[in-house]
Parts: sequence; C-alpha cells; structure tokens
Amino acid sequence: MNKNDYIIRLETEKDYRETENLAREAFWNLSVPGCHEHYFIHILRQHEDFIPELDYVIEADGKIIGNVMYTKALLKDENGTEKQVVTMGPLCVHPDYQRKGFSRILLEHTFGIALKMGYDVVVNFGNPDNYVARGYKSCKKYNVCFEGGVFPAALLVKELRTGALDGRRWFYFPSAAESLCDDAEAVEKFDALFPPKEKAWQPSQEEFYIHSHSAIS
Ligand SMILES: CC(C)(COP(=O)(O)OP(=O)(O)OC[C@H]1O[C@@H](n2cnc3c(N)ncnc32)[C@H](O)[C@@H]1OP(=O)(O)O)[C@@H](O)C(=O)NCCC(=O)NCCS
Repeated sequence: MNKNDYIIRLETEKDYRETENLAREAFWNLSVPGCHEHYFIHILRQHEDFIPELDYVIEADGKIIGNVMYTKALLKDENGTEKQVVTMGPLCVHPDYQRKGFSRILLEHTFGIALKMGYDVVVNFGNPDNYVARGYKSCKKYNVCFEGGVFPAALLVKELRTGALDGRRWFYFPSAAESLCDDAEAVEKFDALFPPKEKAWQPSQEEFYIHSHSAIS
C-alpha cells in the first residue's frame, strides 16, 4: 500500500464519536446480534489501565477507517513474580476497507511503539485467522494460561522481543476494564445515540461461540 493513501495518527478527543461509529459498523452483528464495542471504547478511554499513547486511528479518503486500542494487563508466574504486558483490542477496520492491509499497518506501527515504551508481550483474545500472520501464537506455546491452568483457544500471545517469555508458566490477568461492557442496559442506552441499525443473527456468531468456548489441552 502507498503511504500517501492513508494517515496513521493518535486518536484525539474530537475523533471520539467517529471512532465509536466506526467500531459499531465493524463489529455490528459479528459476535452477537448488535455489538457493545462502541460503548466499550467510549468508557475504556477513562479507565486507569487504558494506554492513550497506543490509541491509534488510520485515516483514508478523509475519514477514520481503522482504530486500535491497548490496556495494561499482568502476567504472574507460579512464584507470584509479576510482568506487565499489554492487551490489544478492540481493533477494527471499516467493512469497506477490510482485507487491504490496514490492520497490519495499525498493529505493526503500535507494536513498535509498545516496545519502545517497555512492553515486550501482547496478549489478546481473537480469531487466530486475523492474527497468526502478525506473529501471534497460541497461548499454550508460551505457557500462558488463566488461573486454574485453562488455555483458551482464542487466547493469543505475541512476543515483541524474542525470548520475552522464557517458558515458565504464566497466569494472565486482564485489566478490570474487560468487564466494563457487562452492563447491557448501559450498552443499549449508548447505542440509542447512533443511527438505527438492525440486530440480526449471522454465521460469524457461531464461529465466535466456538472460538470463545474452546480450550487447548
Ligand atoms: C479483523 C480486522 C481488524 C482485520 O482488518 P483488515 O484490515 O481487514 O486486515 P488486513 O487486511 O490487515 O489482514 C490482516 C491479516 O488477516 C489475514 N486475513 C486477511 N483476510 C483473510 C481472510 N479472508 N481469511 C483469513 N485470514 C485473512 C491475513 O493473514 C492478513 O495477514 P497478511 O497481512 O499477512 O496478509 C477487520 O476485518 C475487522 O475490523 N473486523 C471486524 C472487527 C474484528 O473482528 N476485530 C478483531 C476482533 S478479534
């Protein structure tokens, strides 16, 4: 892609509603009928674990067509030693601009900044199809799991510095920010501020269910 075709830059306050609308367009009906990601990013920006230095948008044709955000998270080993890492997400590209390499640009740009900031591991849930080409591996490969030793199939790990994870068992503790959108009523109220959009079932919701309910043994 030609660098003159897009601008990658930090999100600013005046972009907020445009980015939220983009997230709504990208996530609508993808995992569930409707979506909550636009509300999530709306409140995530105020959370103490949110990392504003990694809140990037990408502009093309005069509008915001992609966004990525990160939050602080923790890994703890079996001796209680802690390691600060980042959780990537939400990540979205407008449906009209998908499969053109924009998420690759957003990720590679922000990975470089995260590394300069001192973070050397990125963890996130997601469909592996979207991430393996960016060097993510199954959490099992790095011995990163939830408390109780569960290795979710959708838990993906990327080392920004080779060898950042040394094979010991790490337990992943996402930020409390993850539960911000559990409030279905608040999501509905926020969604009502946007143009009406029809909630519907689509096959990607079954795919999401399978990915999010699977573990690697
Ligand atoms: C997922 C998403 C962010 C990808 O953005 P994108 O700009 O379309 O992605 P890219 O064009 O940069 O492709 C990224 C990688 O995805 C993979 N990919 C692309 N199209 C694919 C397809 N049809 N099937 C499987 N993998 C595919 C490729 O491996 C590609 O890597 P490459 O750059 O080495 O070719 C975008 O589709 C989106 O916003 N989807 C809705 C929201 C979402 O699902 N967010 C992620 C939550 S897990």
